Amino acid sequence: MSDRELRVSKIKDGTVIDHIRGGYALDVINILGITGKENRVMTIAVNVPSKRFGVKDIVKIEGKALSPEEVNRIALVAPHASINIIKNYQVIEKLEVKLPQTIDGIIKCSNPCCVSNSGEPIRPKFHVKNEEPLVLKCHYCGVILEHADMLRGL
Ligand code: CTP
Ligand code: ZN
Repeated sequence: MSDRELRVSKIKDGTVIDHIRGGYALDVINILGITGKENRVMTIAVNVPSKRFGVKDIVKIEGKALSPEEVNRIALVAPHASINIIKNYQVIEKLEVKLPQTIDGIIKCSNPCCVSNSGEPIRPKFHVKNEEPLVLKCHYCGVILEHADMLRGL
């Protein structure tokens, strides 16, 4: 590395979400409900060169371990991300994100007449019709959500 480059530093403890498709890091932050107002050191790199993908995004969150539910949420916006758990500067675990076949209770249906929006105690539920680009179908009313609709329903 020449003295003209500044590499994003390694973290001591926390989570590195790597190989996010270029431009999708902010969606990953959003889907995790992170606002930046938490008292956490976080690094977000957008559109950095990658051997595998041309460009990629990286999110490094210090002092945070992701729950399995949060890992599944990431799959909605970054199905090829790898999650690295860091302890004392070492990668102690690598998790592949995996999109479940059905998405329960995370995304609101966009159809105001859907029974999941009626005030009844019915959790929204979607079936994954396609992973990339994302296509979801409401279990109750059959409405189709694509990536941008899904983000609006978070
Ligand atoms: N990383 C970090 N802090 C550490 C260790 C690793 O921020 N203390 C980051 C690295 O910069 C990299 C990711 O975590 O973005 C995964 O690290 P590593 O497995 O060492 O890199 P690669 O072998 O390149 O990973 P992969 O095989 O997943 O491409
Ligand atoms: Zn619906």
